[in-house]
Amino acid sequence: MKAEWPADKVERRKTEDLVPYAKNARTHSAQQVEQIAASIREWGWTSPVLIDEAGMIIAGHGRIMAAQSLGIEEVPVMVARGWTDEQKRAYVLADNQIAINAGWDADLLAGELIALGDVGFNLDLLGFESIAELTAMKTAGETDPDDVPEAPANPVTRLGDIWTLGNHRIICGDSTDAATVAALMDGKQAAICFTSPPYAQQRDYTKQIDDWDALMNGVFGAALMASDAPILVNLGLVHSAGKVDLYWSRWLDFMTSIGFPLFAWYVWDKGFGLPGDWNGRLAPAHEFIFHFAGETRTKPSKWVEKKPENIGKIKHGTGLRGKDGKTRGVSSPDAGKQKTKIADSVIRVSPHMSRAGDLTHPAMFPVALCEEIYHSFARAGSIVYEPFCGSGTSLIACEKFGALCYAIELSPAYVDIAVKRWEAFTGEQATLTGDDRTFAEIEALRHG
Ligand SMILES: C[S@@+](CC[C@H](N)C(=O)[O-])C[C@H]1O[C@@H](n2cnc3c(N)ncnc32)[C@H](O)[C@@H]1O
Repeated sequence: MKAEWPADKVERRKTEDLVPYAKNARTHSAQQVEQIAASIREWGWTSPVLIDEAGMIIAGHGRIMAAQSLGIEEVPVMVARGWTDEQKRAYVLADNQIAINAGWDADLLAGELIALGDVGFNLDLLGFESIAELTAMKTAGETDPDDVPEAPANPVTRLGDIWTLGNHRIICGDSTDAATVAALMDGKQAAICFTSPPYAQQRDYTKQIDDWDALMNGVFGAALMASDAPILVNLGLVHSAGKVDLYWSRWLDFMTSIGFPLFAWYVWDKGFGLPGDWNGRLAPAHEFIFHFAGETRTKPSKWVEKKPENIGKIKHGTGLRGKDGKTRGVSSPDAGKQKTKIADSVIRVSPHMSRAGDLTHPAMFPVALCEEIYHSFARAGSIVYEPFCGSGTSLIACEKFGALCYAIELSPAYVDIAVKRWEAFTGEQATLTGDDRTFAEIEALRHG
């Protein structure tokens, strides 16, 4: 061991006096420098830059670039005294590579992210490039995620019950009711909503929907969402009296009035249409996903992996022309180098891949559809609001993804299905909130 360690003496140097190593092989994209700058803004300077006697940087090039972008004039340094040129050159590489060689304990990482997200910490500050990285620890589950238990003849759940399912919660009640929503959310706000309401007046799960506008205005008027939360709502086409029924039009105005105007419109490509005579139309093979967002909004993560041959090769912009008739260039010179990109506005998930054919619930999502949306708009630890829970598809998708599902379902039978589905998938037991007895214990109690 050397008697004199650089770290024993930390001093301050002017940023302008520090000189980057000319052959530094480590690269720092503008995006990564911004991540370092964001972390300095949050935590301040936490690790001195390593320099030689002449002020040449040995370790800390990215931090100095971030300091310059923040206008920081002086930074803590430690000086490597008496090192040979070879020792300096080698350490420039070793400092980076040895850090890369560390790994993650997937379970502990997931737990930490969920805990931090739960208390509202900004997970973007943690420097994970894409949500795919955060969710690499996906839960495999003990059953097929799309498996759904039989509907109970005599439901255990009663109106007002809140079940705790690991990190998730489901309440049996009406999602237009502010008290029900408040009981579910327990003082928290959701970071994203992805849901599938009944389409128009046409479907009758629990009771006849006489006024779709009142249902939708009630649900989204009562929702407890963060102001930057994306709200994504799956709706299908309804055709009546020889024309398309634009049943959502008045509700869109309502969403604008509460600060969540329609921001984008996506298509769920379901693969192929069903056979039949569609009264002169082509067989529908798609549904819509409306995306509502306020002025401050969560940007989609770049989680879709690019083809290796396309990485670093994109030299042009989107291909769209501006008003001047010219094609715009890339927004960032580093854009082409990134390994991932944002998802398409057409989401290709076949419901036929799921077990929806079993039809325990007549309008089940495939779990993969929720996961696609979460990859883009949720973070590990995000609270996902699901006001029309149905058979619990969102619960399973959140479990797999590492998000927290806060769900409402009016029908006690569907709540039972969702609870049993989650128990089968995880091998864990749900408990009645405020009572702490398990679902099985409450079943024994209530059914005698
Ligand atoms: C289209 S389904 C959702 C299906 C769900 N995506 C799944 O994968 O199972 C709509 C669900 O919303 C429920 N629902 C209807 N009105 C409701 C309300 N006011 N509050 C809570 N749930 C409601 C219905 O019982 C039905 O299960």
